Amino acid sequence: MCLNTINEAIEAAKDTSLTIKAPGTVANIVCGFDVLGLALNDPCDIMTVKLIEDPVVVIHNVDDYGLPTDPLKNVAGVALLEMIERLENRVGFDVTIEKKIMPGSGIGSSAASSAGAVVAANHLLNNIFSNDDLVQMAMLGEKLASGVKHADNIAPCIYGGVTLIRSIHPLDVISVPSPPLYVTLVHPQIEVRTEDARQILRKQILLKDAIRQWGNIAALVTGFMKNDYELISRSLEDVLIEPIRSILIPAFDEVKAKSLEAGALGGGISGSGPSIFMLSRNEATAYAVEKKMQEIYTNTGIPFHTYVTTVNMEGVKQMN
Ligand code: HSE
Repeated sequence: MCLNTINEAIEAAKDTSLTIKAPGTVANIVCGFDVLGLALNDPCDIMTVKLIEDPVVVIHNVDDYGLPTDPLKNVAGVALLEMIERLENRVGFDVTIEKKIMPGSGIGSSAASSAGAVVAANHLLNNIFSNDDLVQMAMLGEKLASGVKHADNIAPCIYGGVTLIRSIHPLDVISVPSPPLYVTLVHPQIEVRTEDARQILRKQILLKDAIRQWGNIAALVTGFMKNDYELISRSLEDVLIEPIRSILIPAFDEVKAKSLEAGALGGGISGSGPSIFMLSRNEATAYAVEKKMQEIYTNTGIPFHTYVTTVNMEGVKQMN
């Protein structure tokens, strides 16, 4: 990138600050491990970013999660440090983070921080970077959080809607149109670390299972594009990951069975868990599903939180 362009962007951004809302996301959407994700209208993190002269990242956390303020240990920090390097160390960022998406929830908490930070910084700098550049930077946060780069939370957080990540080397993100969908989530207040939830997975799979899985992924994307709720419903099946990970989630099978009885199209583990999500065609069904989730989790005695929301079509959104 030429120095003049960088200098002009920095000049335009001086003395301003920008606040954004970064949405939670549901990665995998059941069958699309690491390749599909969708953005949510609720919950969202709030972040404010401003430029500083020194090429460093200063982090202020205004929540109770006790996340690191050392930028090298913070997912937003590493993403912004990469941006600073791409800006040839000519500027730094001061970022205030108010997390509402609980870390370790499976609702894309780390992605919201890293994607929110780089999108806010980019807006300040007159959108000097492309969305794909931002996904690359934010993926460094995912690497820090889970040991592996994956974009199925980052991409929907930045692009909004449903996204398909065909490849991360090279990056190839496709926005998938979808019909209106309601999302019901239950978040049991236990922590499942993505790194652990990845380590328990089998490294090799049977060809017959792979065939079933890629049939479902292709059909789910087709269902979204054709507004075919029946096809979406029967494609929400995961024969590879869910049988292993669901063991970590209390009452998973019961939540799934009762949600389907209540009329949900289908659903499963949100990201790497422990949250469970269900998709519904209309609001009344989404609330009926929430009621079932509440009944089941009340019986387990495990504290939990539920959300009823819709698919967020905008991704990270500027607030001021
Ligand atoms: N695709 C990732 C996983 C998402 O399931 O491990 C983590 O949120």
